[in-house]
Amino acid sequence: MARRRKLYEGKAKVLFKGPEPGTLVQYFKDDATAFNAKKKGTITGKGVLNNRISEYLMTRISEIGVPTHLIRRLNMREQLVREVEIIPIEAVVRNIAAGSISKRLGIKEGTVLPRSVVEYYYKSDPLDDPMITEEHITCFGWATPHELDEIFAMSVRINDFLCGLFAGIGIRLVDFKLEYGRFFENDEMRIILADEISPDSCRLWDSNTNEKMDKDRFRRDLGKVEEGYQEVARRLGIWHDSTTEDKPRRKKATN
Ligand code: TMP
Repeated sequence: MARRRKLYEGKAKVLFKGPEPGTLVQYFKDDATAFNAKKKGTITGKGVLNNRISEYLMTRISEIGVPTHLIRRLNMREQLVREVEIIPIEAVVRNIAAGSISKRLGIKEGTVLPRSVVEYYYKSDPLDDPMITEEHITCFGWATPHELDEIFAMSVRINDFLCGLFAGIGIRLVDFKLEYGRFFENDEMRIILADEISPDSCRLWDSNTNEKMDKDRFRRDLGKVEEGYQEVARRLGIWHDSTTEDKPRRKKATN
């Protein structure tokens, strides 16, 4: 990591110049923040887990035909991604009331919404990522109406797919946040999924107990934060107690 040229450092990730033009290296940190960095901490091993979980989910999503920025995971904490022009909005998809929608609209946390809801937030730290409407997005040129249609359609599709994927491993996908970027290739521009999908950006509850397995454990001081992330990875089948990069799993002795 030392030889890479740092381009941008965010709250949970660092972006470095990639080995080829049009690529970046995305490095996952253990740093955790909440409430627009008013609360700060470290979750040991979070970067490694999020790198793996995001790689897995983005790969599955690309298999259903939704383009993503992921090229491949490089090592424990880094992945090679396509360089995009980030669209400055966050799309939040909600299936069950929790967090800010419960607070804002007085809906009891855990209420299943009559249908999935897509909300948009403007990415701005000084403004605390305010909620915005489609009108704001097109009026201020953050995305064109056509781009916004694509973002909406991709978000709904990803939600349907991920709800099923998580249901299959006993997890309720309560809500999650997506970011998109413009990817330029041969004079053509496409909207592709960027950033990450991980327990930092999703609410994930155990289907039987509703136990939280996501960043709310950190936000709300519930303890066992890393264990929650680890359990998500374990259920996805990408984490074992002995998971390391270079240690081959020992073969069973045969007679
Ligand atoms: P919210 O209930 O606080 O609006 O969050 C909705 C979802 O979006 C939740 O899964 C966490 C995720 N999220 C982010 O990934 N980044 C953010 O900055 C915020 C506010 C939420």
